[in-house]
Amino acid sequence: MNDGFEVTPYKVTGDIDYDELVDRFGTKRIDEALVKRLEKHGPLHPMIRRGIFYSHRDLDWILDQYENGPGFTLYTGRGPSGPIHIGHTMPWMFTKYLQDTFKVKLWFQLTDDEKFMFYDHLSLEDAKSWGYDNALDIIALGFDPKLTNIFLDTEYIKTMYPMAIKAAKKINFSTIRAVFGFDNSNNIGSIFFTSIQTVPCFLESMQQGRNVPCLIPCGIDQDPHFRVTRDIAGGLGYHKPALIHAKLMPSLTGSEKMSTSTAMNDTIFMTDDEKTVKKKVMNAFTGGRVSVEEQRKNGGDPEVCSVYQYNLYHFEPDDSKLAELHASCRSGKILCGECKALLFEKVWKFLETHQAAREKAKDRLDEFFVRD
Ligand code: TRP
Repeated sequence: MNDGFEVTPYKVTGDIDYDELVDRFGTKRIDEALVKRLEKHGPLHPMIRRGIFYSHRDLDWILDQYENGPGFTLYTGRGPSGPIHIGHTMPWMFTKYLQDTFKVKLWFQLTDDEKFMFYDHLSLEDAKSWGYDNALDIIALGFDPKLTNIFLDTEYIKTMYPMAIKAAKKINFSTIRAVFGFDNSNNIGSIFFTSIQTVPCFLESMQQGRNVPCLIPCGIDQDPHFRVTRDIAGGLGYHKPALIHAKLMPSLTGSEKMSTSTAMNDTIFMTDDEKTVKKKVMNAFTGGRVSVEEQRKNGGDPEVCSVYQYNLYHFEPDDSKLAELHASCRSGKILCGECKALLFEKVWKFLETHQAAREKAKDRLDEFFVRD
Protein backbone atom coordinates (compact mmCIF):
# COMPACT_ATOMS: atom_id res chain seq x y z
CA MET A 1 0.00 0.00 0.00
CA ASN A 2 2.92 2.34 0.69
CA ASP A 3 4.76 1.59 -2.55
CA GLY A 4 7.98 1.45 -0.62
CA PHE A 5 8.04 4.94 0.86
CA GLU A 6 6.46 6.73 3.73
CA VAL A 7 6.30 10.45 4.57
CA THR A 8 4.96 11.89 7.80
CA PRO A 9 6.39 14.72 9.96
CA TYR A 10 7.89 12.06 12.19
CA LYS A 11 9.04 9.44 9.74
CA VAL A 12 10.48 9.65 6.25
CA THR A 13 11.52 6.31 4.76
CA GLY A 14 12.20 4.80 1.33
CA ASP A 15 12.63 6.39 -2.05
CA ILE A 16 10.11 9.21 -2.22
CA ASP A 17 8.04 9.45 -5.39
CA TYR A 18 7.05 13.13 -5.20
CA ASP A 19 4.45 12.86 -7.91
CA GLU A 20 2.74 10.07 -6.14
CA LEU A 21 2.93 11.98 -2.87
CA VAL A 22 0.80 14.74 -4.39
CA ASP A 23 -1.88 12.16 -5.12
CA ARG A 24 -1.56 10.46 -1.74
CA PHE A 25 -1.76 13.73 0.19
CA GLY A 26 -4.37 15.26 -2.13
CA THR A 27 -2.34 18.43 -2.81
CA LYS A 28 -1.97 20.15 -6.19
CA ARG A 29 1.06 20.47 -8.43
CA ILE A 30 2.27 24.00 -9.10
CA ASP A 31 1.36 24.22 -12.78
CA GLU A 32 2.39 26.59 -15.57
CA ALA A 33 -0.56 28.91 -15.01
CA LEU A 34 0.31 29.34 -11.34
CA VAL A 35 3.99 29.88 -12.13
CA LYS A 36 2.94 32.63 -14.57
CA ARG A 37 0.79 34.25 -11.89
CA LEU A 38 3.68 34.21 -9.42
CA GLU A 39 5.96 35.74 -12.02
CA LYS A 40 3.71 38.78 -12.24
CA HIS A 41 4.81 39.73 -8.76
CA GLY A 42 8.55 39.52 -9.35
CA PRO A 43 11.33 37.35 -10.79
CA LEU A 44 10.73 33.67 -10.09
CA HIS A 45 12.82 31.97 -7.47
CA PRO A 46 15.03 29.16 -8.88
CA MET A 47 13.32 26.73 -6.50
CA ILE A 48 10.05 27.39 -8.34
CA ARG A 49 11.62 27.25 -11.80
CA ARG A 50 13.22 23.91 -10.93
CA GLY A 51 10.20 22.36 -9.31
CA ILE A 52 11.77 22.09 -5.85
CA PHE A 53 8.80 23.95 -4.43
CA TYR A 54 6.40 21.91 -6.50
CA SER A 55 3.13 21.36 -4.70
CA HIS A 56 0.55 23.53 -2.94
CA ARG A 57 -2.82 23.94 -1.34
CA ASP A 58 -4.76 27.10 -2.23
CA LEU A 59 -1.77 29.12 -3.43
CA ASP A 60 -3.99 30.54 -6.19
CA TRP A 61 -6.42 31.70 -3.51
CA ILE A 62 -3.57 33.38 -1.59
CA LEU A 63 -2.68 35.33 -4.74
CA ASP A 64 -6.34 36.34 -5.09
CA GLN A 65 -6.30 37.59 -1.52
CA TYR A 66 -3.09 39.50 -2.13
CA GLU A 67 -4.23 41.02 -5.40
CA ASN A 68 -7.67 41.95 -4.07
CA GLY A 69 -6.69 43.63 -0.84
CA PRO A 70 -6.93 41.45 2.29
CA GLY A 71 -3.29 40.37 1.91
CA PHE A 72 -1.77 37.41 3.72
CA THR A 73 0.80 36.44 6.32
CA LEU A 74 3.60 33.84 6.19
CA TYR A 75 4.21 31.13 8.75
CA THR A 76 6.99 28.57 8.98
CA GLY A 77 8.94 26.84 11.71
CA ARG A 78 11.76 24.74 12.99
CA GLY A 79 12.01 21.95 15.54
CA PRO A 80 15.18 22.86 17.45
CA SER A 81 16.91 19.54 18.16
CA GLY A 82 20.43 20.30 16.97
CA PRO A 83 22.52 22.55 14.73
CA ILE A 84 21.26 23.92 11.40
CA HIS A 85 22.56 22.44 8.17
CA ILE A 86 22.24 23.58 4.58
CA GLY A 87 19.19 21.41 3.93
CA HIS A 88 17.24 23.20 6.66
CA THR A 89 17.90 26.61 5.17
CA MET A 90 16.42 25.83 1.73
CA PRO A 91 12.75 26.42 2.56
CA TRP A 92 13.74 29.39 4.70
CA MET A 93 15.57 31.08 1.84
CA PHE A 94 12.46 30.57 -0.21
CA THR A 95 10.39 32.02 2.63
CA LYS A 96 12.63 35.08 2.59
CA TYR A 97 12.02 35.43 -1.15
CA LEU A 98 8.27 35.39 -0.45
CA GLN A 99 8.68 37.99 2.29
CA ASP A 100 10.78 40.21 0.02
CA THR A 101 8.44 39.82 -2.93
CA PHE A 102 5.15 40.40 -1.14
CA LYS A 103 6.42 42.49 1.82
CA VAL A 104 4.44 40.44 4.29
CA LYS A 105 4.77 39.51 7.92
CA LEU A 106 6.38 36.18 8.88
CA TRP A 107 5.65 34.14 12.00
CA PHE A 108 8.54 31.76 12.74
CA GLN A 109 7.78 29.07 15.29
CA LEU A 110 10.50 27.24 17.24
CA THR A 111 8.96 24.06 18.61
CA ASP A 112 11.15 23.31 21.63
CA ASP A 113 8.15 21.52 23.19
CA GLU A 114 7.78 19.25 20.17
CA LYS A 115 11.41 18.19 20.04
CA PHE A 116 11.44 17.59 23.81
CA MET A 117 8.41 15.34 23.57
CA PHE A 118 9.54 13.41 20.52
CA TYR A 119 13.21 12.80 21.38
CA ASP A 120 14.00 10.66 24.41
CA HIS A 121 17.54 11.99 24.65
CA LEU A 122 16.69 15.70 24.52
CA SER A 123 16.05 17.74 27.66
CA LEU A 124 13.68 20.68 27.47
CA GLU A 125 16.52 23.02 28.43
CA ASP A 126 18.63 21.74 25.54
CA ALA A 127 15.77 22.06 23.06
CA LYS A 128 15.28 25.63 24.17
CA SER A 129 18.95 26.50 23.86
CA TRP A 130 19.04 24.92 20.39
CA GLY A 131 16.11 27.21 19.65
CA TYR A 132 18.24 30.25 20.43
CA ASP A 133 21.18 28.81 18.50
CA ASN A 134 19.00 28.07 15.47
CA ALA A 135 17.47 31.55 15.58
CA LEU A 136 20.93 32.94 14.81
CA ASP A 137 20.95 31.05 11.52
CA ILE A 138 17.42 32.16 10.74
CA ILE A 139 18.24 35.81 11.40
CA ALA A 140 21.51 35.52 9.43
CA LEU A 141 19.53 34.62 6.31
CA GLY A 142 18.35 38.22 6.21
CA PHE A 143 14.69 38.32 7.21
CA ASP A 144 13.26 41.79 7.73
CA PRO A 145 13.17 42.44 11.50
CA LYS A 146 10.17 44.74 11.11
CA LEU A 147 8.20 41.98 9.44
CA THR A 148 9.42 38.90 11.33
CA ASN A 149 8.30 37.45 14.65
CA ILE A 150 10.32 34.51 15.97
CA PHE A 151 9.04 32.70 19.06
CA LEU A 152 9.76 29.64 21.16
CA ASP A 153 6.63 27.72 22.06
CA THR A 154 7.54 27.58 25.76
CA GLU A 155 8.01 31.38 25.80
CA TYR A 156 4.87 32.27 23.87
CA ILE A 157 2.49 29.72 25.31
CA LYS A 158 0.35 32.20 27.22
CA THR A 159 -0.59 33.83 23.94
CA MET A 160 -1.06 30.52 22.15
CA TYR A 161 -2.70 28.32 24.76
CA PRO A 162 -6.32 29.48 24.49
CA MET A 163 -6.27 28.90 20.72
CA ALA A 164 -4.39 25.60 21.15
CA ILE A 165 -7.12 24.15 23.35
CA LYS A 166 -9.86 25.46 21.09
CA ALA A 167 -8.14 23.56 18.28
CA ALA A 168 -7.45 20.48 20.42
CA LYS A 169 -11.12 20.16 21.34
CA LYS A 170 -11.95 19.69 17.66
CA ILE A 171 -9.37 16.97 16.97
CA ASN A 172 -9.93 13.39 18.05
CA PHE A 173 -7.38 10.72 18.81
CA SER A 174 -8.31 8.47 15.91
CA THR A 175 -7.49 11.29 13.45
CA ILE A 176 -4.09 11.82 15.06
CA ARG A 177 -3.38 8.12 15.05
CA ALA A 178 -4.20 7.81 11.38
CA VAL A 179 -2.50 11.03 10.21
CA PHE A 180 0.76 10.65 12.12
CA GLY A 181 0.90 6.87 12.40
CA PHE A 182 0.90 6.96 16.22
CA ASP A 183 -0.04 4.06 18.48
CA ASN A 184 -0.75 3.51 22.17
CA SER A 185 2.91 3.90 23.08
CA ASN A 186 3.12 7.57 22.05
CA ASN A 187 3.19 9.96 24.99
CA ILE A 188 0.16 12.17 25.37
CA GLY A 189 2.18 15.35 24.76
CA SER A 190 2.99 14.24 21.23
CA ILE A 191 -0.67 13.47 20.61
CA PHE A 192 -1.63 17.00 21.66
CA PHE A 193 1.28 18.70 19.91
CA THR A 194 -0.26 19.29 16.49
CA SER A 195 -2.68 21.75 18.08
CA ILE A 196 0.36 23.87 19.04
CA GLN A 197 1.64 23.78 15.46
CA THR A 198 -1.82 24.87 14.34
CA VAL A 199 -1.98 28.08 16.36
CA PRO A 200 0.52 30.22 14.38
CA CYS A 201 -1.73 29.89 11.32
CA PHE A 202 -4.06 32.21 13.22
CA LEU A 203 -1.66 34.45 15.18
CA GLU A 204 -1.84 37.30 12.68
CA SER A 205 -5.63 37.09 12.68
CA MET A 206 -5.67 37.03 16.48
CA GLN A 207 -3.36 40.03 16.65
CA GLN A 208 -5.18 42.10 14.03
CA GLY A 209 -8.68 41.09 15.08
CA ARG A 210 -9.61 40.23 11.50
CA ASN A 211 -9.35 37.12 9.38
CA VAL A 212 -5.90 37.24 7.71
CA PRO A 213 -5.08 34.50 5.16
CA CYS A 214 -1.95 32.50 5.97
CA LEU A 215 0.57 30.85 3.63
CA ILE A 216 2.94 28.18 4.96
CA PRO A 217 6.13 27.38 3.01
CA CYS A 218 7.42 24.03 4.29
CA GLY A 219 8.89 20.66 3.42
CA ILE A 220 6.09 18.40 2.23
CA ASP A 221 6.68 16.15 5.25
CA GLN A 222 4.92 18.81 7.38
CA ASP A 223 1.71 18.72 5.32
CA PRO A 224 -0.08 16.22 7.61
CA HIS A 225 -0.14 18.75 10.48
CA PHE A 226 -1.83 21.31 8.32
CA ARG A 227 -4.33 18.87 6.83
CA VAL A 228 -5.61 18.60 10.37
CA THR A 229 -5.55 22.40 10.75
CA ARG A 230 -7.43 22.89 7.49
CA ASP A 231 -10.18 20.54 8.66
CA ILE A 232 -10.85 22.55 11.79
CA ALA A 233 -10.03 26.13 10.70
CA GLY A 234 -13.57 26.96 9.57
CA GLY A 235 -14.98 25.76 12.89
CA LEU A 236 -12.62 28.14 14.69
CA GLY A 237 -13.77 31.04 12.51
CA TYR A 238 -10.65 31.30 10.34
CA HIS A 239 -9.60 30.68 6.76
CA LYS A 240 -7.88 27.39 6.02
CA PRO A 241 -4.10 27.97 5.87
CA ALA A 242 -2.62 27.68 2.37
CA LEU A 243 0.61 25.77 1.76
CA ILE A 244 3.51 25.67 -0.64
CA HIS A 245 5.51 22.43 -0.38
CA ALA A 246 9.16 21.67 -1.08
CA LYS A 247 10.84 18.40 -1.87
CA LEU A 248 13.28 17.32 0.81
CA MET A 249 16.90 18.13 0.03
CA PRO A 250 19.07 15.05 -0.53
CA SER A 251 22.17 14.50 1.60
CA LEU A 252 25.77 14.28 0.42
CA THR A 253 25.53 10.49 0.48
CA GLY A 254 22.61 10.55 -1.90
CA SER A 255 19.94 9.54 0.63
CA GLU A 256 16.70 11.48 0.67
CA LYS A 257 16.58 13.80 3.65
CA MET A 258 19.65 15.40 5.20
CA SER A 259 19.69 14.32 8.77
CA THR A 260 21.19 15.88 11.87
CA SER A 261 21.06 12.68 13.86
CA THR A 262 22.78 10.24 11.50
CA ALA A 263 26.19 10.36 9.82
CA MET A 264 27.62 13.81 10.51
CA ASN A 265 29.77 13.56 7.43
CA ASP A 266 26.80 13.65 5.08
CA THR A 267 25.73 17.03 6.21
CA ILE A 268 27.20 20.51 5.97
CA PHE A 269 26.46 22.54 9.06
CA MET A 270 26.21 26.32 8.95
CA THR A 271 29.09 26.64 11.43
CA ASP A 272 31.47 24.15 9.78
CA ASP A 273 34.93 25.56 9.11
CA GLU A 274 36.54 25.71 5.70
CA LYS A 275 38.58 22.54 6.12
CA THR A 276 35.59 20.52 7.26
CA VAL A 277 33.42 21.76 4.42
CA LYS A 278 36.13 20.91 1.92
CA LYS A 279 36.50 17.41 3.32
CA LYS A 280 32.75 16.80 3.24
CA VAL A 281 32.32 18.07 -0.31
CA MET A 282 35.36 16.21 -1.62
CA ASN A 283 34.00 12.97 -0.07
CA ALA A 284 30.48 13.45 -1.41
CA PHE A 285 28.63 10.71 -3.25
CA THR A 286 28.63 11.40 -7.01
CA GLY A 287 27.32 9.89 -10.21
CA GLY A 288 30.88 9.27 -11.44
CA ARG A 289 32.27 6.08 -12.97
CA VAL A 290 34.84 3.72 -11.49
CA SER A 291 37.72 5.05 -13.60
CA VAL A 292 38.68 8.24 -15.41
CA GLU A 293 38.75 6.39 -18.75
CA GLU A 294 35.27 5.07 -18.25
CA GLN A 295 33.95 8.45 -17.24
CA ARG A 296 35.52 10.20 -20.23
CA LYS A 297 33.95 7.55 -22.43
CA ASN A 298 30.48 7.12 -20.89
CA GLY A 299 30.02 10.31 -18.88
CA GLY A 300 28.64 10.59 -15.35
CA ASP A 301 25.08 10.51 -14.07
CA PRO A 302 24.02 13.88 -12.62
CA GLU A 303 20.58 12.55 -11.66
CA VAL A 304 22.00 10.40 -8.86
CA CYS A 305 24.85 12.78 -7.98
CA SER A 306 24.64 14.67 -4.70
CA VAL A 307 27.06 17.34 -5.99
CA TYR A 308 24.74 18.04 -8.91
CA GLN A 309 21.74 18.05 -6.59
CA TYR A 310 23.43 20.69 -4.41
CA ASN A 311 23.89 22.84 -7.49
CA LEU A 312 20.31 22.25 -8.55
CA TYR A 313 18.79 22.99 -5.15
CA HIS A 314 20.81 26.00 -4.31
CA PHE A 315 24.34 26.64 -5.39
CA GLU A 316 23.92 27.25 -9.12
CA PRO A 317 21.04 29.70 -9.48
CA ASP A 318 21.88 30.41 -13.15
CA ASP A 319 19.82 27.99 -15.28
CA SER A 320 22.15 28.07 -18.29
CA LYS A 321 25.21 27.34 -16.16
CA LEU A 322 23.37 24.48 -14.53
CA ALA A 323 22.45 23.05 -17.93
CA GLU A 324 26.07 23.35 -18.98
CA LEU A 325 27.20 21.46 -15.90
CA HIS A 326 24.65 18.75 -16.60
CA ALA A 327 25.82 18.40 -20.20
CA SER A 328 29.54 18.35 -19.33
CA CYS A 329 28.90 15.65 -16.75
CA ARG A 330 26.86 13.54 -19.17
CA SER A 331 29.46 13.85 -21.91
CA GLY A 332 32.41 13.05 -19.66
CA LYS A 333 33.95 16.47 -20.22
CA ILE A 334 34.07 17.32 -16.53
CA LEU A 335 35.30 14.87 -13.89
CA CYS A 336 34.00 14.58 -10.35
CA GLY A 337 37.06 16.07 -8.66
CA GLU A 338 36.77 19.29 -10.64
CA CYS A 339 33.03 19.47 -10.15
CA LYS A 340 33.39 18.99 -6.39
CA ALA A 341 36.07 21.70 -6.24
CA LEU A 342 33.69 24.11 -8.00
CA LEU A 343 30.89 23.27 -5.60
CA PHE A 344 33.19 23.67 -2.62
CA GLU A 345 34.06 27.24 -3.70
CA LYS A 346 30.38 28.16 -3.88
CA VAL A 347 29.43 26.48 -0.62
CA TRP A 348 32.28 28.06 1.28
CA LYS A 349 31.57 31.53 -0.09
CA PHE A 350 27.98 31.19 1.09
CA LEU A 351 28.97 29.89 4.51
CA GLU A 352 31.63 32.52 5.10
CA THR A 353 29.09 35.28 4.56
CA HIS A 354 26.52 33.41 6.62
CA GLN A 355 28.90 32.93 9.54
CA ALA A 356 29.70 36.64 9.70
CA ALA A 357 25.97 37.50 9.71
CA ARG A 358 25.41 34.79 12.31
CA GLU A 359 27.92 36.44 14.66
CA LYS A 360 26.13 39.77 14.29
CA ALA A 361 22.78 38.08 14.93
CA LYS A 362 23.85 37.41 18.52
CA ASP A 363 23.18 41.08 19.29
CA ARG A 364 19.98 41.20 17.26
CA LEU A 365 17.79 38.53 18.87
CA ASP A 366 15.54 41.08 20.52
CA GLU A 367 14.73 42.68 17.17
CA PHE A 368 13.04 39.40 16.20
CA PHE A 369 11.80 37.55 19.28
CA VAL A 370 8.31 37.88 20.63
CA ARG A 371 7.51 36.54 24.11
CA ASP A 372 4.50 36.57 26.42
N1 TRP B 1 7.42 20.54 13.21
C1 TRP B 1 8.46 21.20 12.50
C2 TRP B 1 9.77 20.43 12.63
O1 TRP B 1 9.88 19.46 13.31
C3 TRP B 1 8.65 22.62 12.96
C4 TRP B 1 7.52 23.52 12.53
C5 TRP B 1 6.63 24.15 13.35
C6 TRP B 1 7.19 23.89 11.20
N2 TRP B 1 5.77 24.89 12.63
C7 TRP B 1 6.08 24.76 11.31
C8 TRP B 1 7.74 23.60 9.93
C9 TRP B 1 5.49 25.31 10.17
C10 TRP B 1 7.15 24.16 8.81
C11 TRP B 1 6.03 25.01 8.92
O2 TRP B 1 10.74 20.81 12.03
